[in-house]
Amino acid sequence: MKKYLITGCAGFIGSNFVYYMLNKYEDILLVNLDKLTYAGNLENLKDVEGDKRHVFVQGDICDRALVTGLFEKYDFDYVINFAAESHVDRSISNPEIFVETNVLGTVNLLQCAKNAWLADGKWAEGKKYLQVSTDEVYGSLGEDGYFMETTPLCPHSPYSSSKASADMFVMAFHDTYGMPVNITRCSNNYGPYQFPEKLIPLMINNVKHHKQLPVYGDGMNVRDWLYVEDHCKAIDMVANGGRDGEVYNVGGHNERPNIFIVKTIIAQLHERLQDDGIDEGLIKYVADRLGHDRRYGIDPTKIKNELGWYPETTFEVGIVKTIDWYLAHEEWMANVTSGNYQKYYEEMYKNRL
Ligand code: NAD
Ligand code: TYD
Repeated sequence: MKKYLITGCAGFIGSNFVYYMLNKYEDILLVNLDKLTYAGNLENLKDVEGDKRHVFVQGDICDRALVTGLFEKYDFDYVINFAAESHVDRSISNPEIFVETNVLGTVNLLQCAKNAWLADGKWAEGKKYLQVSTDEVYGSLGEDGYFMETTPLCPHSPYSSSKASADMFVMAFHDTYGMPVNITRCSNNYGPYQFPEKLIPLMINNVKHHKQLPVYGDGMNVRDWLYVEDHCKAIDMVANGGRDGEVYNVGGHNERPNIFIVKTIIAQLHERLQDDGIDEGLIKYVADRLGHDRRYGIDPTKIKNELGWYPETTFEVGIVKTIDWYLAHEEWMANVTSGNYQKYYEEMYKNRL
């Protein structure tokens, strides 16, 4: 049986990963270490309650004693680190926590894995550390070209700087100690369980409630969207087939300007809810994000050629599935948008709207 320490898997991508892996593998153990920050939510994992293949541990990836104890107890084969502070806007207001979790937390996990897996100068067989990273570490593209694994790191936001720093520590552990590692760098994800601070769920929620839709700048910034399940598939493939020490970019050539995304959500919800209060008049162009990266676009040739990965869900299908999910999970949205979210929204958008 393969034993995985997976971190941050009460969040958006991680909870989808738990479902993906438990559906795919019968004989597996997933130990899910999550601090349950504002972005972590046990409701996301309610469909695996009682499944003995999934063990939830509330805790911080920075906690040396806790993580060491987990290694002693479970003798993990893999560490897959999803845990992070993940929102660019929050990193602009409060960068320190991004350094703590994303950089120091990653280094702590690397140290614990090294302590457990390296003895007498030899690495135990069959172990791997996989860092879930982002295309944002490459910076921003102009109108042409794509991010390749060889593109130099050039992060701009505090979020992407912390992720780039973490990636460099992962490679440092590989280059210095010979630790078996991979890094995946994925484009923007969307799908079920995404916290409504990110573009797509925020817009779905606002449209439903006839609230203004804050589009930053001219709305022409481009993101390369990938349905979350296709990202989960890529992580599994890299964990189980990636060449040691390699980086794999993950993306499906689904580049769309932000305003296109917002208009698609409006049109879909207008039709689905037969609600005439839903129209493009809700759009409000607002002050741009500081240092806003203009365009992201992934070249996925390496993961396609080496591992046979391809995205299964087109944007057209994925966005409808996502909207359906949010419409069917009103209570989930109501819970995550109560309390602190209201404060966050007020703070983040009060000078914009
Ligand atoms: P998320 O914000 O939805 O979830 C993050 C999870 O990490 C939460 O459950 C939170 O409780 C947990 N966490 C935060 N700090 C922690 C700590 N110190 N110790 C333990 N757990 C902690 O994020 P997400 O969108 O699911 O992203 C997951 C990973 O994928 C991140 O590393 C992110 O950088 C990367 N990524 C995200 C995207 C995207 O579009 N969302 C794209 C590429 C890469
Ligand atoms: P986001 O979902 O925060 O992801 P990232 O910044 O990691 O790409 O934002 C996606 C794009 O949408 C980005 O160009 C910023 C833009 N955006 C808005 O225009 N309005 C919003 O309220 C938000 C949250 C994002």
